Amino acid sequence: MSLAIYPGSFDPITKGHIDVLKKAAKIFDKVIIAVSVNPAKKAMFSIEDRIDMIKESVNDIAGVEVDYFEGLTAKYAKDKGANAIIRGLRAVSDFEYEMQMAQMNNSLYDEIETVFLVPKSKYNFISSSIVKEVSKLGGDVDKFVTAPVSKRLKEYNI
Ligand code: COA
Repeated sequence: MSLAIYPGSFDPITKGHIDVLKKAAKIFDKVIIAVSVNPAKKAMFSIEDRIDMIKESVNDIAGVEVDYFEGLTAKYAKDKGANAIIRGLRAVSDFEYEMQMAQMNNSLYDEIETVFLVPKSKYNFISSSIVKEVSKLGGDVDKFVTAPVSKRLKEYNI
């Protein structure tokens, strides 16, 4: 059985992430979308909220499991027996950082390969930060996030 891990901060999950997840679910028998911590970022939502938002947003995609881990992505992938780490590539600007992480993860765990998937171009300009900023300033983000995420963003910003 082929297994991929899709790690990220997902603070919150966007339709761009979901597009990448759907593509991964077509390629792998099982995909674990795993919330993790990027130490360089201060999160808006708690881990529990992020997991709940993902569960409520992806429950229609077959072969997907939602999880959380602490520590190294490479170690988590190894412990799960995964074949691949999934990452989305939206633009050239993602490339350098993603290359660095892919090579580091592969040098930590030789069995793991990173598979880059390209989301639909209509999602290329979305990031979790920009969605949070637009929502905070009263803009409509329903095109970019699912209803459960939109609801939480509104509650958070009240
Ligand atoms: N659609 C929309 N947005 C996307 C996207 C897509 N397809 N792909 C990425 N993004 C955005 C995210 O929203 C996020 O935006 P933000 O910066 O505004 O939050 C940004 O691109 C990247 O976020 P994400 O994919 O969540 O990754 P991350 O860089 O926040 O987290 C981890 C990366 C968690 C995978 C990495 O830090 C990690 O592996 N941490 C564990 C510790 C570890 O192993 N460290 C060593 C790594 S080599």
